[in-house]
Amino acid sequence: MHLKIAVLPGDYIGPEVMAATLPVLEACLKKAGHTLEHSTHEVGGAGIDRYGKALPDSTLAACQAADAILFGSVGGPKWEKLPPKEQPERASLLPLRKHFKLYANVRPGLLLKNLIDTSPLRPDRIPQGVDMVCIRELTGGLYFGAKSTQEIAGGDIEAIDTMVYRKSEIERITDVAIATARARRKHLTLVDKANVLETSVLWRKVVGERVKATAPDITLTHMYIDNAAMQLVLRPSQFDVLLTENMFGDILSDEMAVICGSLGMMASASLGLDLNRHGKGYGLYEPSGGTAPDIAGQDKANPCAQILSAALMLRHSFGLEAEAKSIERAVEQTIAAGIRTADIAGGGPAVGTRAMGAAILARL
Ligand code: IPM
Ligand code: MG
Repeated sequence: MHLKIAVLPGDYIGPEVMAATLPVLEACLKKAGHTLEHSTHEVGGAGIDRYGKALPDSTLAACQAADAILFGSVGGPKWEKLPPKEQPERASLLPLRKHFKLYANVRPGLLLKNLIDTSPLRPDRIPQGVDMVCIRELTGGLYFGAKSTQEIAGGDIEAIDTMVYRKSEIERITDVAIATARARRKHLTLVDKANVLETSVLWRKVVGERVKATAPDITLTHMYIDNAAMQLVLRPSQFDVLLTENMFGDILSDEMAVICGSLGMMASASLGLDLNRHGKGYGLYEPSGGTAPDIAGQDKANPCAQILSAALMLRHSFGLEAEAKSIERAVEQTIAAGIRTADIAGGGPAVGTRAMGAAILARL
């Protein structure tokens, strides 16, 4: 198979973790007899610096011509003074998600056995470890509803974000969650705020009907967002698949990531409606964490989330399950061998980004 991908490293640690990832991806594909064609493009702050635009036209065109996007992370203090609408996150990542209709964000939360002591939770809270997936709706809700800020009577200022959801949007993400649960322990938890929010009332109704009509084999549980945030630290092993709207999913997935050891471990896949040249889902693959400006340029960042995102890309956009697994196994074995970046070293000896990448590559 010939894989054509657009590589968008972005800002701060983005290029560092990407540099550790590409050799792993290349080696994995070469070994399996595939060919990889990739080109690298500016996005986020890097796009602003070079082209005056967080999502340069040339970058978008390259994404369009590719089968999938491997994305690093964008944003940081350098561009924080720009007007909000021009900041890297809002002006590149969100338009990319919208442009490619990437409505389904899949974030696997797997606490590796060897990382149990890296979790902030006491080991007795996670006797069976944690193995869950967050399915986050990614192109609706507060992120994309109408926004405004205006002066109002009395010299006061009012800012508005709008949460909008349509039945059709909820149905399509529910289908992704059902398929995910079906391949796992068949337990789906819908997280909402149906005691307060109108959109949540619609979510409950639509998800309930959808599961009843199309997935009687799936057990559906409802949980309010505040309770879910608490249950996640209390007893994370009760969760299999979490389904939730955009903003709740953003918050819960960070919580899930640290419970699983570190934000530096959590990959993510953003999937849409379009198919690529291989007849598989076009997608964007990125670490769930940010650009970590505090450790950028120091060879300290954990490349695992980026490397595991590349594995998700092989699985979802190319159907290369065995290859995806081989990368996931190499990451697991590296960690089991005690080779760790500082975020997962628990105060013990740590290696840098490059050495971590090289150790994973060596185990492929
Ligand atoms: C994430 C990030 C983004 C989000 C930011 C960078 C806009 O936090 O992917 O979780 O909020 O979706
Ligand atoms: Mg986030």
